[in-house]
Parts: sequence; C-alpha cells; structure tokens
Amino acid sequence: MRKPRHRRPVGLRDAASRRGLLFGSAVATADLVSEAFRAALLRDCSLVSAEYEMKWDAIASLGYGPADALVRFAREHGLAVHGHTLWWHGAVPDRLAGAAPQGFAAAAMDHLAATARRYAGQVASWDVVNEPLDLDHGRDDGLRASPFLDAFGPAYVGTAFEAAAEADPDALLVLNEMGLEYDSPDAERKRRAMLALLERTLAAGAPIHAIGLQSHIDAGHQPRENPGLRAFLREAASMGLRVLITEMDVSDWRCPRAARDAMVADAYRWHLGLVLEACPAVAVTTWGLTDARTWLSEHRPRVDGAPVRPLPLDRRLRRKRAWHAIAEALAAAPEAGAARPRA
Ligand code: XIL
Repeated sequence: MRKPRHRRPVGLRDAASRRGLLFGSAVATADLVSEAFRAALLRDCSLVSAEYEMKWDAIASLGYGPADALVRFAREHGLAVHGHTLWWHGAVPDRLAGAAPQGFAAAAMDHLAATARRYAGQVASWDVVNEPLDLDHGRDDGLRASPFLDAFGPAYVGTAFEAAAEADPDALLVLNEMGLEYDSPDAERKRRAMLALLERTLAAGAPIHAIGLQSHIDAGHQPRENPGLRAFLREAASMGLRVLITEMDVSDWRCPRAARDAMVADAYRWHLGLVLEACPAVAVTTWGLTDARTWLSEHRPRVDGAPVRPLPLDRRLRRKRAWHAIAEALAAAPEAGAARPRA
C-alpha cells in the first residue's frame, strides 16, 4: 500500500494561490528559531517580508547577515521574498543624521544599488520607497520633508525606482504608503496626492509597478464600505498599477474585550474584500502572523492593558476569527490576472 503523502495542512497560502495571489507575513530571523512558528509560517505563508532586517539602518548596524539568512530560509522553503525597504525616512543610519545633501545622496544611492543588486533574482518585489507623503509638512505636492527630498529634490521617487530597476530588472517595484486606507478627509487628500505623485512619476518614465497599502487598520474605526479608497484603487488600476497589501494588522486597542475578535475579523474581511475587488492584486501580507509578536504591543497597546489581538493567529499559534475572515476574503477574491512575482 502506498505511503500516505504527508500533505501540509491547508493554510492561507492555499486560499491565496487558488486566486493567483501570495499570502505572507513580516518576519525577523529571531522568529525562525521556534519550530512551532516555522511550521505555522510554512503552513500559512507563500511569502515573507523583512520586518526590519532589510532596512538601511539595520543593514548599516548588523550587516547583510540577517537579511541573507531570511532570504536563504525563504529559498530553502520555496517562499517569495518581499524586500522592505530601500529608502525610508524611518530607517536612515545614525551616521547619516544631519549629513550634507550631497554626501547623503551618494550614500543613499550606493545603499540602494548595492542592496538591490545583492538580492537580484532572490527578491520578488521591493518597497523601493516607503511613506513618501506627509501632507502636514505643507508642500503643495504633499511630499514628506526628508533627507531624500533634500538630497535629490522632488523627483527623488522616480530616481529611486530607476536605480532599483537597473539593479534588479526582474523585481516588482512597489511604492509603499500608510494611511491611504481610512475613511476620512485627510485620507482622501492623501489619496489625491498619491495619485498625483504616481501620475507625474510614471509620466517621467519611472518604472513603478505597484502601490503598497500598508493597511495598519483600527478595528474601532474601520467602515464596511469606503468609496474613496475604492475609487483610488480603480484609478491606480487604470494607470496599469497593481496593488499589494504590505503590512496589514488590525488594532483592537479600543475594542470592548468581548467584541474585539469579531471586530478585528470584520475589519480584515471588509478591507480585503474592497481592495482585492478594486485593483489587480499581487500579495496580501500581515505585519506578523501571531499575536505573540506584534509591533502593536508597544505601538498601540490596549487601554485596558490586556494583550493585543491584531493578527491571524493567537499567542499559541491557534487560528482566530481573523484567520477565517482572511481565508474567506481570499477565496472570494477575483481571479488575479496579473503576472505573479516568482517565488
Ligand atoms: C516597524 C517594525 O514593526 C518595528 O519592529 C520597528 O521597530 C519599527 O518599524 N510602517 C513601516 C514598517 O513601513 O517598516 C514599520 O515597522 C511599521 C510602520
């Protein structure tokens, strides 16, 4: 009698792949020490994103070793890698704080080219630029005041994408942003500024392939419908862009304890349903897989002091309502027509 094939349990990656999508999680090499976590990751994920070890400041202080280890793990297990992130104001090495624009420009370009070249053929997609906008900084174009803007001028986003395409011609190149997901006048202004940035940068010939929606959602604020976001995504699709959900988690910080798992699940269901329907999608990534390790524990703790529950798996790696809501939303997604980044 034939030995039964040891089939991996069905995970979120299977629901995603049936619709031509990837499902992933942000990870750090320290997470991979746990055999139980590795098993959960391999059951649910077909993609990993570096939570911080591929950032400029991390590479400047730790070297490429941790990032190499993450990429090696992914290759050994047939997972795609989403590179996060080449240029981000939040990850500039300390030694460059206050550097003169010319010196900063040379260092930033060297880092981008060296890192994109190093992982060419191993990284499916890159957040080339992260969080370029901040409308509170008062510029007409909404660009965030940053050392990248000072060093390269307002066309720096295009500069980054052209350099990334030269260093890795096969990677899917993503412009990643936060706060585009909300149903508010501020979010609508930010969506308009993003569309204008995309239009002028693409018109200048920059190879932007996709928009990354970070999707850090607040369960107590998430509407079931969001016409502004839907229209934004349809506009992005009309520009030939695809969408990735790059950092999704759903904060329960102000949800009543008894209702929070259901509210978090609803927020996953509604947001994924809207995004996956409105624009050709590539991947859905949560910013962590288990409540045992989430940046929200420090960044957005619950007002009652209870441990937060923003992710698909609980602290003991058991599936939550959020896991099932994600699975349902993936299963209901339109068949993704766009080409997939290689795994
Ligand atoms: C966060 C990480 O989760 C933390 O571990 C780190 O200390 C700071 O950065 N938007 C981003 C991510 O693009 O890179 C940030 O990740 C969360 C907000």
